[in-house]
Amino acid sequence: MSDLELVRAAIAAREHSYSPYSNFAVGAALLCADGTVYGGCNIENAAYSPGNCAERTAFFRAIFDGHRDFDAIAVVGGPAGEPVGELCAPCGVCRQVMREFCDPATFRVLMGTGPDDFVEATLEELLPHGFGPENLNR
Ligand code: THU
Repeated sequence: MSDLELVRAAIAAREHSYSPYSNFAVGAALLCADGTVYGGCNIENAAYSPGNCAERTAFFRAIFDGHRDFDAIAVVGGPAGEPVGELCAPCGVCRQVMREFCDPATFRVLMGTGPDDFVEATLEELLPHGFGPENLNR
């Protein structure tokens, strides 16, 4: 799957967003090393704090299915009902979840600004000096 196809998969996943409180719809598409792609959307809650981000929805779906190796994730977000325009960068909690399962030097985060455009960063660039599983495996 090409990078733009992954961005478009995130745009499609965004259609599933349940975001009645923020009205900010987010979609993600996670590319596993074997080529499988998992979509995710943000899922909000009337009690607010139980809400889940699109990126973590995608990761948790993939982890449950047994995947542990990931290459890239595409993320898109913006006001619900409007096409994607502005860049939506993953929140700190989602970056930390990525850090648990991904190599910071090679895992790529594609932040889509539309179906034909994205800004790319490695996880290391988004979360420098991160804390990960190896810190506990002495
Ligand atoms: N959100 C995501 O799903 N991913 C991000 O990277 C940023 C924020 C969601 C959480 C909440 O449902 C809404 O966007 C507004 O913060």
